[in-house]
Amino acid sequence: MPANAEWIAEAAHMIRSGALVAFPTETVYGLGADATNGEAVARVFAAKGRPTFNPLIVHVAGIEQALMIGSFSATARRLAEAFWPGPLTLVVPKLETANVSDLVSAGLPTIAIRAPDHPVARELLKEAHRPIAAPSANRSGHISATRAEHVASDLGDSATLILNGGPTAHGLESTVLSLVGARPLVLRPGAVPLDAIEQVIGEKIARANESGTHLSSPGQLRSHYAPRSKLRLNAKTWTPDEAVLAFGNVAPGTCRASINLSPSGDLIEAAANLFAALRTLDASGAGTIAVTPVPTNGIGEAINDRLERAAAPRD
Ligand code: TXA
Ligand code: MG
Repeated sequence: MPANAEWIAEAAHMIRSGALVAFPTETVYGLGADATNGEAVARVFAAKGRPTFNPLIVHVAGIEQALMIGSFSATARRLAEAFWPGPLTLVVPKLETANVSDLVSAGLPTIAIRAPDHPVARELLKEAHRPIAAPSANRSGHISATRAEHVASDLGDSATLILNGGPTAHGLESTVLSLVGARPLVLRPGAVPLDAIEQVIGEKIARANESGTHLSSPGQLRSHYAPRSKLRLNAKTWTPDEAVLAFGNVAPGTCRASINLSPSGDLIEAAANLFAALRTLDASGAGTIAVTPVPTNGIGEAINDRLERAAAPRD
């Protein structure tokens, strides 16, 4: 659809109602979902066909909105002021109080945030009045989409609406910079050159590695989400002192605590509930969380991937 005021207003309405909207940014097209709505975010992973929950970037209208989501050091703030709106994504500690689904950052305690510099993206963010979680609008493993037609051929079935803002300006994704450690660390080189960043902070930036495969690194660590409790996967039975993480038509019976990710067996709903459920069951103090089988089709593959990581021996 043409990215005029009328369609942007419609897109904002759709975002608020949990639907997915593809929209142009100055880098590439994004497939956007209300970042505060876990099910909407789960639909993004399902649509992309991502085998794991690679964390997503939260798009905000500006620094003010970002400060409600992440903890900004003086350096982070200086960078946001210098480069936003623009193609610099800052990874910062996520605030406890942030109203953002755990699924956005794949259960990590950090969050990637950027304010895009494109009139359509900015207007959409303003009207939706929500932070918008959006990966590049291509199927996982494909090249990022820099034109609405690419989005349509890759994800046409899942985006309820594609705002056509013409070809994007950069055609290369944003630079992703982590400000979580002692020194700034580039996680993905991108549209903002590193020396421009170094000039602003007056400090050398560390490179994650040479090959550029760092992108998936948060998700690649085997035990990257590590609850205190042990996880026992594909459980069919459990003891009264175990907690139960169930899926589908399962009666937990006597157990320490239980949560059903989706009693109706809906994988999207299950994905949306996964990280919060693990957290809650972990807090029950159970030594072991028994996890009933979750199908591996569709987004079930990503759910099982995360469960396996959570169950892996601790690094
Ligand atoms: O230009 C862009 O950044 C585009 C437009 C749509 O904004 N978006 C984009 O999103 O490229 P995506 O999902 O394709 O890439 C996001 C990158 C991934 O490499 C992911 O691992 C990293 O950001 N990332 C997201 N959250 C992170 C976090 N909490 N810690 C470390 N890396 C994170
Ligand atoms: Mg991408």
